[in-house]
Amino acid sequence: MSKLDVNKIRSDFPVFQDQSLVYLDSAATTQKPHQVIDAISEFYSHSYANVHRGIYNLSFKATEAYHGARLKAQKFINAKDWQSIIFTGGTTESINLVAHSWGRKNLNMGDEILITEMEHHSNIVPWQLIAEDRGAILKYIPINQDGTLDLSDLGTLLSDKTKLVSIIHQSNVFGTINPIQEIINKAKKVGAITLIDAAQSAPHDTLDVQDMDCDFLALSGHKMLGPTGIGILYGKLDIIEGMEPFMGGGDMINSVTMSKSTWNDAPYKFEAGTPNIAQAVGFGAAIDYLDQLGMQNVSEYLQDLKLYALIQLKAIEGIKVYGHTKNKSSSVISFNLQDVHPHDLAQFLDQDNIAVRAGHHCAQPVMDKLGISSTIRASLYIYNTKADIDKLCDSLVKTAKFFRGL
Ligand SMILES: Cc1ncc(COP(=O)(O)O)c(C=O)c1O
Repeated sequence: MSKLDVNKIRSDFPVFQDQSLVYLDSAATTQKPHQVIDAISEFYSHSYANVHRGIYNLSFKATEAYHGARLKAQKFINAKDWQSIIFTGGTTESINLVAHSWGRKNLNMGDEILITEMEHHSNIVPWQLIAEDRGAILKYIPINQDGTLDLSDLGTLLSDKTKLVSIIHQSNVFGTINPIQEIINKAKKVGAITLIDAAQSAPHDTLDVQDMDCDFLALSGHKMLGPTGIGILYGKLDIIEGMEPFMGGGDMINSVTMSKSTWNDAPYKFEAGTPNIAQAVGFGAAIDYLDQLGMQNVSEYLQDLKLYALIQLKAIEGIKVYGHTKNKSSSVISFNLQDVHPHDLAQFLDQDNIAVRAGHHCAQPVMDKLGISSTIRASLYIYNTKADIDKLCDSLVKTAKFFRGL
């Protein structure tokens, strides 16, 4: 029996009140509960001002709200220090920040960066850019056809040349939950810095950066009920204190003269200019919402729903599901329907108000490995029900019949 009251949860989401919608694209971005929308509206209406600078009450209130969101994020991932929480625009910006600020200082000719073939483009391209810039070499842990990582050569891929290992925690294509602990531990043995792309794991599972002992972790607020334009980069304090800024501007400085500037402390050193204040407040409200549900309950509910979805989908003739071996997967399911192009299929599903993603999911190397150009991706979240899955399956069967001329 689920500990989540899904009817109550659905009633919190305005988008489900005025339309019949089966929303199965939460891995791209989640819908927002009114608690998050209200927190943003309330903040803009009654507490809004710029942060850190104003010597007046409203600015103090805004600064307090902004800092409060940072403390919530700190608690959410169990970081030791609030100074370790850098607000960014999201996972992409967080990874680029590390590539630029850490990479420019620490990567030299012939150094190696290790990622996997399973990465989202945002955990590939920043490393390609910095590798080219610094003369470093980008290496990949391969994937198996079943959507898992092939770790058989990890011992060879990791060496004293490896300076950084950056790994996707949960695949946005296969749903695979990667054995990041094993990889972090082995990376540490060769002295490499580790970064975890938690864009897909943060919405699904409890994260504990102290337990993982990763050096960096990146996530996006909009994939876990929060607004767009806000995410975090967690970085161990001793590492981020030694890093140069990512961008220059207001707030990130200690002093500026015509010839030279000095930097503020972390995290402000990495937050140049007026930050996304209202988005941070909304993100804080999203964390409160998830905290109230309990991440363990969220995780159990989604595991259950995913298993139901997999059974129903696999029973449909012509459906091929990618990944999902050994049950180590999240509630992201990629599949194709024989003889139907994923884009056509997504349009047919849309006629029944079913929103799924069709495409390469910003993971073209994964598609290349599978020898396909795209898939349909159905991704589940706390507002989805078994009835949503049934509607998806009914619509798939109907579409299959149409394309087969039955
Ligand atoms: C695994 C993974 N990493 C990174 C990203 C990039 O996140 P954002 O676009 O919020 O920066 C995504 C987004 O889909 C993702 O799924």
